[in-house]
Amino acid sequence: MKGLILSGGTGTRLRPITFTSAKQLVPIANKPILFYAIETVGDAGITDIGIIVGDTKEEVKETVGDGSAFGVKITYIEQEAPLGLAHAVKIAEDFIAGDSFVMFLGDNLIKEGIAGLVEEFERDKPNCQILLAHVENPEQFGVAELTSDGKVERLIEKPKDPPSDLALVGVYMFDPHIFEAVKAIKPSWRDELEITDAIQYLLEKGYDVRPHVIDGWWKDTGKLDDILEANRIMLEGIETDIRGTVDADSTLHGRVVIEEGAHITNSVIRGPAIIGKNSEITGSYVGPFTAIHNNVRLVGSEVEHSIILADCVIENLGGRLEGSLLGRNVKLHKSDTKPRAFRLMVGDNSQVEVV
Ligand code: TTP
Repeated sequence: MKGLILSGGTGTRLRPITFTSAKQLVPIANKPILFYAIETVGDAGITDIGIIVGDTKEEVKETVGDGSAFGVKITYIEQEAPLGLAHAVKIAEDFIAGDSFVMFLGDNLIKEGIAGLVEEFERDKPNCQILLAHVENPEQFGVAELTSDGKVERLIEKPKDPPSDLALVGVYMFDPHIFEAVKAIKPSWRDELEITDAIQYLLEKGYDVRPHVIDGWWKDTGKLDDILEANRIMLEGIETDIRGTVDADSTLHGRVVIEEGAHITNSVIRGPAIIGKNSEITGSYVGPFTAIHNNVRLVGSEVEHSIILADCVIENLGGRLEGSLLGRNVKLHKSDTKPRAFRLMVGDNSQVEVV
């Protein structure tokens, strides 16, 4: 069995971060989202993995490499434009070469892994296995309607009036019949080849499409709130590991990771939290569920429940930063100049909340 991880797309819901970087490379607990996907597929015993890449292909290739760091072999498959999930399958036909495969959306996280599900698929050999999860907002997902005896009756993409609360999780298992489907379907109103349409085709042709409702934690990290929640859940699993220095005037509470070369001076860190390599935290408070990446300078400031990307400088804020995602190299400081005013230079589609 092979793996196909999707790491193209546009990531419009995560602008401005995605203007300059791939959303799949946003770090969750200081590790790119995409790494979790590769590890999850690898942990299921799948070592031959294709990664679909788009405009951000150079950055993805440079960050992930040939897969040897993960104990897998990676083949990059370039998608000329984000023409849909089923389009990504279509262009992977040569790579899949008649095998069965797991398709994993590169911005999805499944905490308990997929090894058991892959085993189930290989044992029972249906034509397709889809994963479903109960959600509170099914109108924002592909939704499955099941028959009274638990078979898949119909799939609908983002229905206005959802027939159930069962959303399609971004992990699918297919045998080669899916290639017949992706060639037969037509682009949707948004001009994409939809994977829901391809699976609906399999259903209509009488192929065996098995649903599997998962009850563990799963997240599609397409939006800011979802990224922050994923960060919270992944930080909950960390163990204390202090590789940098913590001076006598600082205190650490709970589970805290301080990476190599980081210095904590006269500060309070309340875990779960992680401070990246060569970062300096001085006279500051870092609260629970915060991931600070590499080379960040935090001076005289308070941060909680946030993700701060590499090379940011936050000085003397005078208030607490909360529920925030800062891109790379962002500068944030309190100024004493008059008149007292907010001075901003933020990219297109940024969000700023002030009190
Ligand atoms: P989506 O989150 O559905 O799409 P997107 O990345 O374009 O984001 P947005 O809706 O905010 O604009 O994509 C799910 C995953 O699949 C994600 O990792 C990107 C990837 N993808 C591709 O690789 N190729 C594609 O053609 C599409 C649509 C998505």
